[in-house]
Amino acid sequence: MPPQSSALTVLGIETSCDETAAAVVRLEDGRVTEVASVIASQIADHAPYGGVVPEIAARAHVELIDDIVAQAMAKAGLTYDDLDGVAATAGPGLVGGVMVGLSFGKAVALARDLPLVAVNHLEGHAVSARLAADIPYPFLLLLVSGGHCQLLEVAGIGACRRLGSTIDDAAGEAFDKIAKSLGLPYPGGPALEKLAVGGDGAKFPLPRALLGRDGCDFSFSGLKTAAARMAVKVTNETERRDLAAAVQDAIARQLMERTDRAMALYAETHGPGERRFVVAGGVAANKTVRAVLEAAATKRGFTFDAPPLAYCTDNAAMIALAGAERLAAGISDDLGAVARPRWPLDEAAAKANPTHVPGRKGAKA
Ligand code: KG4
Ligand code: ZN
Repeated sequence: MPPQSSALTVLGIETSCDETAAAVVRLEDGRVTEVASVIASQIADHAPYGGVVPEIAARAHVELIDDIVAQAMAKAGLTYDDLDGVAATAGPGLVGGVMVGLSFGKAVALARDLPLVAVNHLEGHAVSARLAADIPYPFLLLLVSGGHCQLLEVAGIGACRRLGSTIDDAAGEAFDKIAKSLGLPYPGGPALEKLAVGGDGAKFPLPRALLGRDGCDFSFSGLKTAAARMAVKVTNETERRDLAAAVQDAIARQLMERTDRAMALYAETHGPGERRFVVAGGVAANKTVRAVLEAAATKRGFTFDAPPLAYCTDNAAMIALAGAERLAAGISDDLGAVARPRWPLDEAAAKANPTHVPGRKGAKA
């Protein structure tokens, strides 16, 4: 019998927020190749409303999904017969959109008799840096996006331990909301970064939440309120630029301070050879955020990795890779897998820490 190939070719589908995305990834002996990746952004659909409108997102996903998957397959030059599995985001996210991508994935799996992997979107972000660089497990991860802000010890696929998370807003949400109060368009993070160029952040002293507090949790709501109050008093373009720089510095500083604590904790149980730090998620696209985190990592003796920009924001290549790694580990899901609006990566930590109970009293992220 010819030797069995360990290569896996997996189609990934991502529809949890405002990007309809499909990608094909190949995983062979631990090496990853992106075969094709297609992303249709709905930014223009949501921009008039200043944020993502779930109903509009779900409808747009329905309209786009067939074409985006077909484009990814055509770009890859493959047919469904060439696939070894299908991975689709099953949550957390806007559930109407998640259902669209997950149902599509199930349909392909059923029609082609392929294994289905129902992927946690956060696990996609967790593995995203591995699409572009050889980053072995374990590593310390800061996941910072529009919906999430968490520090995780990633020991392997399906083995994440949460060290901290936001007790109110996510960092990207803070960027977006403060940008809105500065009159910037959605999505606010990149627009605020652009405005901040050349600004003097020291002109607007902003509160430093959780400074010196134990643990690795985050809080951005005080900063958001303070910045919104200052924004209404801003009278000219220079002040606007200075305030944008102050906000960016304040968010970056908090991310760095809490990550520094997590690095100290992580280093207690991991030798120098395992001290790797990865930042992922949309906010990792921010150059100031990257720079302060890289400096902190270097100071603590950690390697620093951040995915290329295309893998920081939502994409399907990271979902395909998470799916491929799960399949390689012998893990797949049945067609009864459900779409989940909330789905913590580390369910034990989420249950144990009551400040993170989802709902009105707890963290959104
Ligand atoms: O990972 P992502 O595409 O979606 C979620 O899973 O949430 O992240 C989107 C978030 C938005 O809040 C956006 O404003 C933020 O990432 N973002 C940035 C930058 N690029 C994207 N924030 C700050 N600076 C940027 N350059
Ligand atoms: Zn995301």
